[in-house]
Amino acid sequence: MHDRITGRPSAHATLAFYDDQHPPAGDFLADVLDGFSRTPKQLTPIYFYDAKGSAIFDEITALPEYYVTRTELAILDTIGPELAALAGPGAVVIEPGSGSSVKIRKLLNALSEPAAYVGLDISGEHLEAACQEIAADYPALQVGAICADFTQGLDLSHLPLESGRRIIFFPGSTIGNFEPNGAHALLAGFRRAMRPGDAVLIGADRVKDPATLVAAYADAQGVTARFNLNLVERINRELGGTIDAGALSHEAVWNPDFNRIEMHLRADADQQFDVAGRTFQLREGESIHTENSHKFTPDSFTSLAKSVGFDVLHTWSDEAELFSLHWLEPSAKA
Ligand code: AVI
Repeated sequence: MHDRITGRPSAHATLAFYDDQHPPAGDFLADVLDGFSRTPKQLTPIYFYDAKGSAIFDEITALPEYYVTRTELAILDTIGPELAALAGPGAVVIEPGSGSSVKIRKLLNALSEPAAYVGLDISGEHLEAACQEIAADYPALQVGAICADFTQGLDLSHLPLESGRRIIFFPGSTIGNFEPNGAHALLAGFRRAMRPGDAVLIGADRVKDPATLVAAYADAQGVTARFNLNLVERINRELGGTIDAGALSHEAVWNPDFNRIEMHLRADADQQFDVAGRTFQLREGESIHTENSHKFTPDSFTSLAKSVGFDVLHTWSDEAELFSLHWLEPSAKA
């Protein structure tokens, strides 16, 4: 078989296409040095997800306090028939960041005769394996993969895609890990790749009582603490850092001014450390801000979507209104 995009003999034989858009790798060292030079110190959450961090994140999704994943899965179970009716037969499902194969399978199983699935991820190796598994389990589906950075927009124009209605699937409330400008830019990138009648199915975590939120990010077993600390351990492993991770404490706080959970690593004592020949000081009590997880109300999500040129046609939540899935379509007047 030949790769339909490159025309070269393909190593991706079970895929209808593999489109390598050669996303530039993030510059971990430059981002870490930049973040440690700021006041307050900060790190970028994209670097949580090395192999160890991804495995710990999988543990987080099963924690009793982390209601996010199981609630979204339960909503998907409930709304399957509605999704099938909305999407109609022959849909083309595109999944930026193609992460949890459980969620995409729930969607594909719910839809009526979907025509295609396209996974899109910055990590080619992980992407290819995940898409091949989908291709093996859904033989009637056209399955393709795009190796690209979805934060830079979706370039689908040159792909040999089936002609059905396109559904961009973005579950998990990953939208909440972007700053407001970044969330707007991300949705605008999706919007530009869409035609009239296409849709986005997106998960967004809800504003709720702070105790529930804080517990979800500071669980009793300390799994989220390990996830947070793995980021500085990764700096030590990969960038020759000398940070004393044992003298940092995981902290999750609700910031009501920005409707977000913030994760920090707070210094238990003064320490001096090096990264790639640069020396940094951390004072006792000083924090390294590692992640924001923004939460939404139905109104705040709708105004974000509207500002990008989407109408929110449907919002589904669980009974306790912990989490929502939204169906967005390009507004007629946009
Ligand atoms: C990936 N993202 C949606 C998670 C969240 O809930 O913001 C990341 C996470 N961080 C700590 N726990 C989970």
